[in-house]
Amino acid sequence: MTTPARPPGSVLVTGAASGIGRAFARLALSEGATVIAVDTDAAGLATLVDEAKGLGGLLLPRVQDLAAPGAAAALWRACEDDGHEVGTLINNAGFGALRDVVEMPPEAIESMIRLNVLALTELSARFGAAMTARRRGWILHVGSIAGMVPARHFTVYGATKAYVNSFSFALRAELRPHGVTVTCLTPGAVATAFARRAGVETFEGRSVVKMLFDHRLVATPERVAAAGWRGLRRDRAHVLAGPGSGLAAAVARLVPASLLPRLM
Ligand SMILES: NC(=O)c1ccc[n+]([C@@H]2O[C@H](COP(=O)([O-])OP(=O)(O)OC[C@H]3O[C@@H](n4cnc5c(N)ncnc54)[C@H](OP(=O)(O)O)[C@@H]3O)[C@@H](O)[C@H]2O)c1
Repeated sequence: MTTPARPPGSVLVTGAASGIGRAFARLALSEGATVIAVDTDAAGLATLVDEAKGLGGLLLPRVQDLAAPGAAAALWRACEDDGHEVGTLINNAGFGALRDVVEMPPEAIESMIRLNVLALTELSARFGAAMTARRRGWILHVGSIAGMVPARHFTVYGATKAYVNSFSFALRAELRPHGVTVTCLTPGAVATAFARRAGVETFEGRSVVKMLFDHRLVATPERVAAAGWRGLRRDRAHVLAGPGSGLAAAVARLVPASLLPRLM
């Protein structure tokens, strides 16, 4: 079977300085792609620039906070002004918090929803429209098993990822007739900076999420990104990756959502 070629144009990866996004950027670079790597972490992007020299391709780093108001529009405009046609969009940037909703600072809730939901949606809409016009494009969204299985203490994060999962499947149906592929990658626990930022290590309550990280039931970001990249290339609607992801999908199918938080 011949491998479908990547659509013409650049690969845009959000959250590319670390973890799964960085692994996606490296995969695309090793295929010789021009990668627009967006992240808040300037130092992380600088080290990716160094790594890119040995991988092939061309890395274009862009330091930007995608949770800021108007961020998606600004990124879109910058790509247009620089003449970058984005053929592949990897909507990966996101963060979580293992914390009860009432304990979360309102600004953290806002920023999580802005990044995980709003930026992803607007970027898909803007770049998806251009891809639709060209009748070619790949979009990958990094959802999560947390979006399939509502869990206490992971309430806001899980809800943002339920949005990503649902949005991706419906968007796929809308864009597919126009030649644009949409794939949703739903990893289980992955060994990245995510757990530290989410406060998993310091969380003192009982939680399946904490159990997965504490017991190192985690996948590597490289493995997860490779599964997503393969799924994108094969036009898969949904890619499960990492320990616990198949089980979570099965539990979500069998157990009513209203009962899941107590079970988890
Ligand atoms: N790791 C897991 O267990 C897991 C499981 C399922 C799904 N996911 C999802 O996978 C995706 C990637 O996470 P990861 O595990 O690779 O985490 P990660 O190692 O923390 O990488 C996320 C990257 O996104 C950047 N970022 C955060 N906020 C941003 C913003 N407002 N604008 C632009 N960039 C921003 C981070 O920069 P800073 O370092 O500056 O914050 C970081 O470089 C996320 O959507 C996450 O929800 C992760």
